[in-house]
Amino acid sequence: MNAEKPTISTFERIKLLLVFLFYALFAWHQWWSGVSPRLIRGSPERDAIHHAHLNNGALLFVLFIILALIWLLRPGSTLIARFRHAFSNAGTTGVSLFFMGTFGAMLFGLAQAWAAGGETALFGLYNLPHFLDWSWGTSGYLHSSFSNISSALFAGVIFVYLYTKLRPHVHPALAVVILLGVHVLVNLPKPPSLHPIALIGTYVMVPTYYLVGLALYNFANTKRWIYWPVYLLFTLFFLYLPYLAFKVLPPWHAPAATEIVQVESSTKLSPLRSKGEIFADADALSGAKETASWCGQCHNLTATGAHLLGPNLVGVFNKQAGTVDGYGRNSSAMLAAGSQGTYWTRENLANFLTDGQSFIPENLMNQQTDLSDPARLKQVIDYLEYLSSK
Ligand code: HEC
Repeated sequence: MNAEKPTISTFERIKLLLVFLFYALFAWHQWWSGVSPRLIRGSPERDAIHHAHLNNGALLFVLFIILALIWLLRPGSTLIARFRHAFSNAGTTGVSLFFMGTFGAMLFGLAQAWAAGGETALFGLYNLPHFLDWSWGTSGYLHSSFSNISSALFAGVIFVYLYTKLRPHVHPALAVVILLGVHVLVNLPKPPSLHPIALIGTYVMVPTYYLVGLALYNFANTKRWIYWPVYLLFTLFFLYLPYLAFKVLPPWHAPAATEIVQVESSTKLSPLRSKGEIFADADALSGAKETASWCGQCHNLTATGAHLLGPNLVGVFNKQAGTVDGYGRNSSAMLAAGSQGTYWTRENLANFLTDGQSFIPENLMNQQTDLSDPARLKQVIDYLEYLSSK
């Protein structure tokens, strides 16, 4: 009788607890990474969330190392047998790739934090040193790719697990409907300012991962070769997702040659108005600042701020396109427009910000906000003039 009872060693118990902790922290972590890009860069809320995100990430990293050690040092099967088991079916492969993806995300996330030149006090105790000199572009891009890989796998693995628990009680189709329903309910309270990409992610992409995970679980375990091409395509897709979503060039693509040819403007430039002329009162200024804060996701809007994904926009008004000092990541389309005499006049900005791809085809900015309302467009252009005016 006793022999049939599965015995769980203390070692296994500790491992289970660690895995559970890892999953719980990881799920919590997703919330921070989802919220932080929607807050204005430089705002105290965003700094606080960013800091919490890094601390939690570092904690996950430590847990990850402990889990990896336990996995490596566990007595019993050989290392080769363990690797075979880790990739023996769609479920174990999903979990293994999840851990690998997460590991990548953490490495590049920490590199990004350090490379930004800042220090991060871990739980107020210890400052992470800055020793990896990867650029914001490189490590930011890969951090984004790897976190998408691991969060999609995380979602898929959890979904399939819950499905197997529900299936003995309800019809399989009903189980799927219930779980998708829960997913939608959980996501409904997200703020209305939700980024369009996040909307697609929540309502189209994540349900797709669920269904792909389910299909792999139900069909591919009998035809094991199927899940390899699926996982390969999945990984390739995520390595290019930041490019597809935000037009950020992946680090393995060479940037355009940045030879800047300074020319005269092809149209007459009207001189900048004074700050006081642009905004008559503080309300008008704060309204415009609020509208333009969206641009702050990719552009620094303060004079001393570094370039982000896009160039710092202080001083851009009336400037030749593609000539912001020290940026160096402009597309060749933007550089060509500049060398043909495109300056950031009111009219050119209006065209660029409402229909950028017709105005400068193949430029790399994907601002993803609708400025077709003339009042909002005017606010943004006025604010750019204000930032550039003495
Ligand atoms: C998703 C990131 C992103 C967002 C959001 C964004 N931009 Fe950009 N922006 C870029 C990138 C990248 C470039 C460089 C494009 C190129 O060289 O092809 C750029 C270039 C520009 C330029 C031309 C600068 C130059 O090199 O001459 C202006 C002006 C500009 N953005 C204004 C804005 C404004 C105003 C907003 C808000 C309405 C905004 N951007 C939102 C990424 C973004």
